[in-house]
Amino acid sequence: MAIKKIITEPNKLLRKISLPVENVGKKEQQLMDDMLDTMYAANGIGLAAIQIGVPKNVVVIDLNKDNKKLPMFFVNPKITSKSKSLKKYEEGCLSIPNLFAEIERPSECEIQYLDYFGKEKTLTANGLLATCIQHEVDHLKGILFIDYLSKLKKDIILKKLSKQKIDQKRLVI
Ligand code: NI
Repeated sequence: MAIKKIITEPNKLLRKISLPVENVGKKEQQLMDDMLDTMYAANGIGLAAIQIGVPKNVVVIDLNKDNKKLPMFFVNPKITSKSKSLKKYEEGCLSIPNLFAEIERPSECEIQYLDYFGKEKTLTANGLLATCIQHEVDHLKGILFIDYLSKLKKDIILKKLSKQKIDQKRLVI
């Protein structure tokens, strides 16, 4: 188990399309463990493998904010249906630090995936879980939540991000 570096925008890797996992073995479980550690350390509720530079279809989520940890693992997650009804959430992303925006997505979705042990599962998600899963599955396709914003709003966010990066560099001694 190890805490990895989270890649932040702008970075071409975040636009890469992740590849399916062929077999869930020790190596993949190790990846999931590292992702979970990284996500907890960064106080996030979801993380896709590409965010630590691994282009594989793997997502971890834990919506539980208390000390009780309830991690969920999704290998090769596929959204098989989405509700017509939409819901707005103020979204953030560990790869887009300190910036948030209201994004509208289907309020419910059904997903197929393999769990931590490679077992086939299906799940109907609603509420925050539905939003989170859709956000993470987007990462696997190289899509970020800011892509849903108008060009103007997106440009403002990107500008703020580059400024943050420059400021961070200035702090290095
Ligand atoms: Ni994200």
